[in-house]
Amino acid sequence: MSIPITKPFFGPEELRAVQQPLESGWVVQGPFVKQFEEQFAAFVGARHAAATSSCTTALHIAVAALGLKPGDEVIVPAFTWVSTANVVEYMGARPVFCDVDLATFNVAVGQLAAQVTPRTVGIVPVHLFGLCADVQPILDLAARHGLWVIEDAACAFGAWYGGRHAGTFGDAGCFSFHPRKSITTGEGGMITAARADLDALARSLRDHGASRSDLARHQGKASFLLSEYNHLGYNFRMTDLQGALGCAQMQRAAWILAERARRAQRYDALLADLDWLATPVVPAGSVHGYQAYVCLFRPEEPTLANVERLHAWRNELMARLEERGIATRQGTHAPVIQGYYAVKYGLRPEQFPNAYIADRLSLALPLYAQMTDAEQDFVCASLREALRA
Ligand SMILES: Cc1ncc(COP(=O)(O)O)c(C=O)c1O
Repeated sequence: MSIPITKPFFGPEELRAVQQPLESGWVVQGPFVKQFEEQFAAFVGARHAAATSSCTTALHIAVAALGLKPGDEVIVPAFTWVSTANVVEYMGARPVFCDVDLATFNVAVGQLAAQVTPRTVGIVPVHLFGLCADVQPILDLAARHGLWVIEDAACAFGAWYGGRHAGTFGDAGCFSFHPRKSITTGEGGMITAARADLDALARSLRDHGASRSDLARHQGKASFLLSEYNHLGYNFRMTDLQGALGCAQMQRAAWILAERARRAQRYDALLADLDWLATPVVPAGSVHGYQAYVCLFRPEEPTLANVERLHAWRNELMARLEERGIATRQGTHAPVIQGYYAVKYGLRPEQFPNAYIADRLSLALPLYAQMTDAEQDFVCASLREALRA
């Protein structure tokens, strides 16, 4: 048996969808991207949604649109994909890392206030693996200090907090459609925004700073005249091939999310007796989107003193699963220990103990909508055997 960490769900509808732009000849950002944006906005309950080439470019546009500049500081979690911090660096600003909560892998909200300085302009909470960060105290802190909030909702399609979908709390929300995510367009991203002016600026910035899109220009009068370019923009557009794929994926999004949640709950039940594996928690009032099913390997209470030994043990376990054809992964990584940040800012793991422990001991299990009971049973049985071995 070969069990990947995840796989996208594509059917004849996706195949037909990507044929349509090929047949029409309009393959760059166009009618299908527009339709995908509308479907996505309706699903998450966002006033505006603008598609991009990835979540990283969505985040980059969001920080640019909010005016991030050299000398500014932005608070980001210490355990997240590196691009959450990279987009702050791209603008010449400084990411200030905050440690995370080991139970949820999300930012430790109790430690946020201590990171605020006179230079702080914003906070980027990450809804890691599909579980919303504890949004309300973050919004309260931001309001007290006049900070903007960009939700890194890369993993948060299908994630709800207090009855509202991720990406509808902050000034902007940024989603990913990379194939590791629940719905995919190959590469792709989306920026949600409540304010029309921010949405308009984001749309302009993704398109070289143009005053109107190619589609609007081609469909309107005087299409022979180029747009005006009043902003320093980028080419961060989604193609219509991806947009069409996104529309087809949206048609089955509810089913994909429901199946992933059902599989996750089945894992919860099958693994409940393993005291050495902490399975994902879902705080009251949250709906987990289960972009990934990420556990913490904890045969002992993890500390900085025993983490390297436990890390070697976890890797041994993962290698045994790999031998059986089962793919596992660490949940994500801690940017604070990656060379660029560790060297530039002189960061040490001891400053972010939970992020470091999460980096070393997290363990994502295979999860996809079309997973079978037999595959899942095999993963669980193999986990038990691997630990015994
Ligand atoms: C938390 C987080 N932020 C940002 C990204 C970047 O997304 P993309 O690959 O679409 O650029 C990812 C990707 O995995 C992520 O997990």
